[in-house]
Amino acid sequence: MSLRGFIFCCLLAISTAQDETNNKLFPEGFMFGAATSSYQIEGAWDEDGKGENIWDRYTHSHPELVVNNDTGDVACDSYHKYKEDVAMLKELGVDFYRFSLSWSRILPTGFVNKVNLPGVTYYKNLIKELKDNGIEPLITMYHWDLPQPLQDIGGWPSEFIIEAFAEYARLCFELFGDDVKYWLTFNEPKQTCLGGYGQGYSAPGITLSGLADYVCTHHLIKAHARAWHIYDQEFRATQQGLVSITIDTMWHEPASDSEEDVVAAETALQFEFGWYANPIYNSDYPEIMKTRIAERSLAEGFNKSRLPSFTDEEIAYISGTFDFMAVNMYTSMLTAATDEVPVGEPSYTYDIGVNSYQPDEWESSSILYFKITPWGIRKLLNWLKETYNDPAIIITENGTPDDGSLDDVKRVRVYRDYLSNVRSAIEDGVNVFGYTAWSLMDNFEWLQGYAGKFGLYHVDFDSINRTRTPKTSAAYYKKVTKTRCLVDTCEE
Ligand code: BGC
Repeated sequence: MSLRGFIFCCLLAISTAQDETNNKLFPEGFMFGAATSSYQIEGAWDEDGKGENIWDRYTHSHPELVVNNDTGDVACDSYHKYKEDVAMLKELGVDFYRFSLSWSRILPTGFVNKVNLPGVTYYKNLIKELKDNGIEPLITMYHWDLPQPLQDIGGWPSEFIIEAFAEYARLCFELFGDDVKYWLTFNEPKQTCLGGYGQGYSAPGITLSGLADYVCTHHLIKAHARAWHIYDQEFRATQQGLVSITIDTMWHEPASDSEEDVVAAETALQFEFGWYANPIYNSDYPEIMKTRIAERSLAEGFNKSRLPSFTDEEIAYISGTFDFMAVNMYTSMLTAATDEVPVGEPSYTYDIGVNSYQPDEWESSSILYFKITPWGIRKLLNWLKETYNDPAIIITENGTPDDGSLDDVKRVRVYRDYLSNVRSAIEDGVNVFGYTAWSLMDNFEWLQGYAGKFGLYHVDFDSINRTRTPKTSAAYYKKVTKTRCLVDTCEE
């Protein structure tokens, strides 16, 4: 065989091997779960004393922004059907259920002056139903649905929010903490800050990129740290739970092996993930963010960086406020260096200053940008291990959208392929202890409304009963949770 033929043959072998499903058992104790969030499933938007939140306001005042003018007013009606949800989870055989608390269902004004008892009872009942069925609750305190009164006085870019969140967090620990071992303060803070206050694609829809998104983040990170310390000082000894934050990122693959592109991909990861993770898992914002935003701010005529800075005391207070690492990952980007970055207007995207794109040949799903890149999760997990000193990691969301058909063979393949790469990352030495399918059921997919379907269970949104029906992917996931194996038979 010629040298060229030999190289080709070996490359082919490597790529085929990578495509094969990992046939090792997931380790004993590895946790499988499924996830939802309050606004996306609960409905009952103004029932039993619940206050208005920013997603209620956004969908009601801007129906044109959501596909089919959908709202979460009824959603999956889980406020009334939580027992059915738990029965589905039991059927799937999951170890845990990741759901979120609606802040305004518990505190209609957002402040602790008025606790809404029916809201508290709802979550107590849900938690009890889960525990009675042997399913561990993993609770997110904030999945984007800020009480509207708190937005009316400025929302996340206003400093008062830090204490408001801290008090809400303390109340959650008091109310539910005896039965909850896993807590997440925030889901995907980048979507809260960049989407809500920077690029405006999420409630409350403010567009002040490169400014309000940075201030929002600054407060949100401090609020997270406050909540972690409150738990640590006031509850950990008696409740013995764990607290973290879910940060989302895409994997950024360098577009070539040139040094410039490798640096560009790392820069994108630092802006996307490190923005939140570095202060918490290492210390302070990533150097590349501090340097780049300071330089650009001065060139734009500001007197100081648009990126707020932490004091030394704050850096120390925030650093280490995690008991595990929680990550949401769906897709990847190819990232290249570029010289074409305008200076003038503040912009988070221009601050990153790279060219990220998804090639046409990558497999599509039903929503743009959710391209299917299972190999990216393995690379991401290895990068997390290296960058953040080998933390214990749980994937708190992963999945794919489709047209909603019951025989969702593509979703089966996507779950299998991503999980296969997770299993391979464990073999690489990454400490991954859990995986969460997004989502338990089709639900209100934000600006996609009910057209974006991620569920293991189909929900009939035309029926008053919101009838739930398992898809083919539910059967596959059930097999995986039962056998800890992705193929027919596995090796230890
Ligand atoms: C969010 C979910 C969302 C999912 C699919 C994540 O960004 O946490 O609320 O439904 O992705 O878009």
